[in-house]
Amino acid sequence: MSENILIIDFGSQVTQLIARRVRECGIYCEIHPFNKVTDSFIKDFAPNGIILSGGPSSVTEKGSPRAAEYIFSMGLPVLGICYGQQTMVEQLGGKVESSEKREFGRAFIHIEKNSIIFNGICKQGDKKQVWMSHGDHVTVIPKGFSVIASSEGAPFAIIADEARHFYGVQFHPEVAHTPDGAALIKNFAYKICGCKGGWSMSTFRDREIEKIREQVGSGRVLCGLSGGVDSSVVAALLHEAIGDQLLCVLVDHGLMRLNETESIVNFFRDEFHVPMIHCDASELFLSKLKDEIDPEKKRKIIGATFIDVFEKEAKKAGGADFLAQGTLYPDVIESVNFVGGKSITIKTHHNVGGLPERMNMKLVEPLRELFKDEVRQLGRELGLSEEIVGRHPFPGPGLAVRMPGQKITKENLNILRKADAIYIDEIKKAGLYDEIWQALAVLLPVRTVGVMGDSRSYDYALALRAVTSTDGMTADFYQFNHEFLGRVSNRIINEVKGINRVTYDITSKPPGTIEWE
Ligand code: XMP
Repeated sequence: MSENILIIDFGSQVTQLIARRVRECGIYCEIHPFNKVTDSFIKDFAPNGIILSGGPSSVTEKGSPRAAEYIFSMGLPVLGICYGQQTMVEQLGGKVESSEKREFGRAFIHIEKNSIIFNGICKQGDKKQVWMSHGDHVTVIPKGFSVIASSEGAPFAIIADEARHFYGVQFHPEVAHTPDGAALIKNFAYKICGCKGGWSMSTFRDREIEKIREQVGSGRVLCGLSGGVDSSVVAALLHEAIGDQLLCVLVDHGLMRLNETESIVNFFRDEFHVPMIHCDASELFLSKLKDEIDPEKKRKIIGATFIDVFEKEAKKAGGADFLAQGTLYPDVIESVNFVGGKSITIKTHHNVGGLPERMNMKLVEPLRELFKDEVRQLGRELGLSEEIVGRHPFPGPGLAVRMPGQKITKENLNILRKADAIYIDEIKKAGLYDEIWQALAVLLPVRTVGVMGDSRSYDYALALRAVTSTDGMTADFYQFNHEFLGRVSNRIINEVKGINRVTYDITSKPPGTIEWE
């Protein structure tokens, strides 16, 4: 890798956005937690520049996180953001204080001095909108630094030691609410770190194909294909890299949506000619799930049964040396917990955990460095259709977690499938599918009274949900217009026997979750 920016994470909620901004300008970067970044790590990583992220701590507290001192003596450009600015100031001899007056949200900075970091964005005397989120602020800047922008709440909104290429910003340039933030980060990377760009998804694809070939040699690779974006992209990439050394296994748990499994099999086996086992285990899953209504128990049953079936099929097919997984970059970062303490399990998301050890397989994880939308880009690069790469996320346990309090029977699944298909069809027809992050229907365990024609009905109620989100961690309910909701409700009640009432879920996450269980 010729060009590289190292992002040191102090635990900000938006650190990943820094990486997004850097990659968007054609430069590869990685995020690493502050306490893993040692002197030798930095030497091996050989970055062109370093960005220190924000974080929830206060540098005024004893024992709060610090950047490795080496960072400031190796002659590399450093950009400190919020907490990153404050720790830089503190470590270089300046002062940071907590203030009564906290500053959150939109603010304006005044450009005090021209600087290379403002190249093509603004000049001395201009006023620029930024997004602030801080309690502490810098009160004394270290020797060699000067103030290049100020705001009402943060007199040291941007400081710089241009000779040493150190820059500190009190606000968050990585978020969309700082309109010129991306350009500021770009200037840091290009003008200050001297990067030339050129990193793109097609370079990533070529490099990854080489890496897979090197790792796998003449070995055999298994890939659990669910038809979701991640596993589809992994399968397509591996197929391009190693052809028939790949074997995809699609464990059909019978909890998929209408015609979903058929279309995945058609596409991968018949159009893409990917070697594939399609194992219909729906009866087995349904019998194991019989009478179970507890969401976590359902997940455990599905996870364990999935692994059993997968293992049996893989052994029947002669086993393999590697297992391919669609682990993404956010999964990798989230699994590094440096703040200490265990995070609370809200829901266990099932995957093929435990299988690699059981079957003595090594892991191939070609998406480990990518964000979700980059995976989509890679999918397009590999020739996957928009229908596959643009798909909404769908949970591993499928429709089983979309019928709270309901027994999972073929009849109930069919009712839900039909209603879900109408809902998604109407969303697509209205041209809203890509605006919505995820849309789903939930079959409720209540029957309600209705009147249809001249007779009384006593059928299930259905809840519709649609959310906007960037990563699934937080979400807002989607604001459909009432006419659209009315149309969907009419169609579902007219066309799906068993449902006589439709509601729309207007809960955001938090406090709700996206799925109902
Ligand atoms: P929640 O409901 O936790 O969902 O707000 C966030 C995202 O995760 C999906 N989800 C799952 N995915 N196994 C999965 O593979 C699961 O058990 C599971 N539960 C929720 C959900 O659909 C949403 O995209």
